[in-house]
Amino acid sequence: MSRIGVTRISVSVPPELLRKFDGASERLGYRDRSKAAQAAMQSFVTESKWVCAKQGRGVGAIILLYSHGVRDVEEALTDIQHRYMRITESSMHIHLDEENCLEIVPVRGPSAKIKELAQELMTKEGVKELKLAMVTP
Ligand code: NI
Repeated sequence: MSRIGVTRISVSVPPELLRKFDGASERLGYRDRSKAAQAAMQSFVTESKWVCAKQGRGVGAIILLYSHGVRDVEEALTDIQHRYMRITESSMHIHLDEENCLEIVPVRGPSAKIKELAQELMTKEGVKELKLAMVTP
C-alpha cells in the first residue's frame, strides 16, 4: 500500500469496545493501535463498497461449510458453479470430518453476479454457513 504521509485523527470510543479492539489487535499481532485501526478502516471501506455496490466488479472467495451427508448436495453445488463459469472456474474441497465439507470458491466478475451465485449456494439444503470474502486489489 502506498502512503503519502498520515493524518492524525481523534475519535470517541466506548471503553468496552476499545478494550475488545485492543485485545483483538494483540491476538492478531499488531504492536501499535494505529496500524490496527488502519487495517480495520481498510476492511470497513472494502466491506461497505461491497455491500453498497450494485454495479462494478469484485474479486474474492466464497467459503462454504456444508453437510456431506445430505443427499445430492455436492452435485447440486457443483451444478450451480457450472452455471456461473464466467465468474468462477475452480474450487478447493476439504473433507473436514465424517459429516462436514468445506469448499472455497474463488470468484471474479460483476458484483451482482457474485452476489447471485452466493445466494444460490447459500439456500441449498445441506449448506450450514456461507461467507463471502471480497478484497480490493
Ligand atoms: Ni468432502
